[in-house]
Amino acid sequence: MMEFSQATQAPALTLSAATLERFAREVAKYPADQKASAVMACLAIVQQENGFVSPAAEDAIAAFLGMAPIAVHEVTTFYNMYNQQAVGTYKLNVCTNLPCQLRDGDKALAHVCSKLGVEPYGSTADGLFTVQPSECLGACADAPVMLVNDRQMLSFMSNERLDELLQLLKAQHA
Ligand code: FES
Repeated sequence: MMEFSQATQAPALTLSAATLERFAREVAKYPADQKASAVMACLAIVQQENGFVSPAAEDAIAAFLGMAPIAVHEVTTFYNMYNQQAVGTYKLNVCTNLPCQLRDGDKALAHVCSKLGVEPYGSTADGLFTVQPSECLGACADAPVMLVNDRQMLSFMSNERLDELLQLLKAQHA
């Protein structure tokens, strides 16, 4: 007879009063019956406070907004900007969607990973870099394209430009 192991549950997370107050300010921006509209803002708050969004944090947000936990998880996993685990000081997202792939996006990702000695989604041991593939960043004509720390878009990232970037970022922490 086949046995099924019981699903492990993330330990419950108690949000601080300050966090709940920030959530409430976001919820207040929407009609009372549309609290779920604040989900992205609440995820951003949790990430700002903790560095990433854990399953327990998703559950806490779901409870606060009256949403199904899976609906919150769908939002977390849809957007590259939400981290599902701790990331390095520099989060490097290299676009590997088809238009970029046709112009060496996958090679750019492989180059960064090889230079830093990590696998995709991996972080360097010194905690400086996390490298991730990303979905389309909306600048396909500039491929290969990447995003640093969810803010700075970089275009035409040849191996030489990637090397320069890594050197520059490392130098800032030397
Ligand atoms: S496919 Fe890479 S920016 Fe659009």
